[in-house]
Amino acid sequence: MRAARVGIDYEALVQEDRVHGSVYTDPAIYEEEMEKIFHRGWVYVGHTSEIPHPGDFRLRQIGRQSVIMVRDSQGQVQLLLNRCTHRANAVCQMERGNVTVFRCAYHGWTFALDGDLVGVTYADRYPSSFRKEEYGLRKVPRIGVYRGFVFGSLSPVGITLDEHLGQPVKEQIDLFVDLSPVGELDVTAGVHKYGYRANWKFQVENSMDGYHPNFTHQTFFANIQRRTGVKLTDLFNSRSVGLTRDLGNGHAMLDFRPYNRAKGTGLRVATMPTPWGQAYWEAMVNRYGKERAQEILTAGGTHMLIFPNLVLLGVQIRVIRPIRVDETEVFLYPVLLQGVPPEVNAARLRAHEAFYGPAGGGATDDLEMFERNQIGLSAQLDPWLLLARGLGQEKRDADGTLVGQITDEVTQRAIWRQWKKVMTQDVAVRRRARHGAAQQVG
Ligand code: FES
Repeated sequence: MRAARVGIDYEALVQEDRVHGSVYTDPAIYEEEMEKIFHRGWVYVGHTSEIPHPGDFRLRQIGRQSVIMVRDSQGQVQLLLNRCTHRANAVCQMERGNVTVFRCAYHGWTFALDGDLVGVTYADRYPSSFRKEEYGLRKVPRIGVYRGFVFGSLSPVGITLDEHLGQPVKEQIDLFVDLSPVGELDVTAGVHKYGYRANWKFQVENSMDGYHPNFTHQTFFANIQRRTGVKLTDLFNSRSVGLTRDLGNGHAMLDFRPYNRAKGTGLRVATMPTPWGQAYWEAMVNRYGKERAQEILTAGGTHMLIFPNLVLLGVQIRVIRPIRVDETEVFLYPVLLQGVPPEVNAARLRAHEAFYGPAGGGATDDLEMFERNQIGLSAQLDPWLLLARGLGQEKRDADGTLVGQITDEVTQRAIWRQWKKVMTQDVAVRRRARHGAAQQVG
């Protein structure tokens, strides 16, 4: 790992109404992001419904580190580092599957689903002091799960997942999950992947940007209006009743609920005059009561960033994976609802495909903008990016969240405030954390 440059002045680079372009282009800053944001904080890894049976696994990343999310023989979700404890070979190559053990291909050591070392080849040549129980696959030091969302932290110390998320985020996750009348998601529909040649934070910021859609997605919106009469530009203009929210700790959302209430759009599926729409509505009312069912369906999921790498967008889980300072991968998981008529899930998949799918009409617009951003940053006579929109006009809501109009840059400022807070933390904490992690033997 390259040494981080000493003395990057994050206070100067991130100001209340602007950020310096180097935060997207400087490799030294990227290295520190990996350490301080991804290797120390809470990072989203996967969803429990992806691994329903013992032996089911998914190969994931926390920052630079390869991690296996696996359900062990006791039914527990484990996060294991994909690194053989003999001489560091990656024990898992496949992205997904079901196994009874993980066997390292190099010299044949075998590990149980909970990481325990259960087989050493030609063990007779090890000294008598060798203890198999000391060489299990290392576990991610901390794992936290909320409503099936699995987060890991490579640091053994730090705030709890509960503290990291906070109540406003948990309420939004509840709205996202409780679209299922049995309160369970199904994240096995597949994954849609894309990459772009620009910094990872462009996708983070853009996911919470209510200012760009009417321009970046102009063609898509015009098509929707022509075909359905729905005028999405009404949502994303400066007179819209839609809101931006700073949920704390870098989490943020675009809040469509006031708009949906006014238009009745969130309830459209459930109130469609179809047998399946009616069946869904009745199942929701039976489970939650009419008032809460109406609240859940009006929200229509959520549109939220959970800092740093998870975005929940109505029908989709989006995971952002930094590759290099100017290269990013994004994995989209269309989310199905358990306990609903199949037509509801079919409608969710079609909605995902229409905007985000490989032949969709919208997501590629954003990727083009990210790459143009990275090109624009090469011109450095004026190195600043402006984030002043709506500054000074925010209101503090009763739940403590900071609220602005939907085209305001409240969400961007929320992200950068947290980014600066994390990036200015003492690196000594990281060194202690790494040492502590090294003591944890699987
Ligand atoms: Fe895995 Fe040798 S590196 S058994």
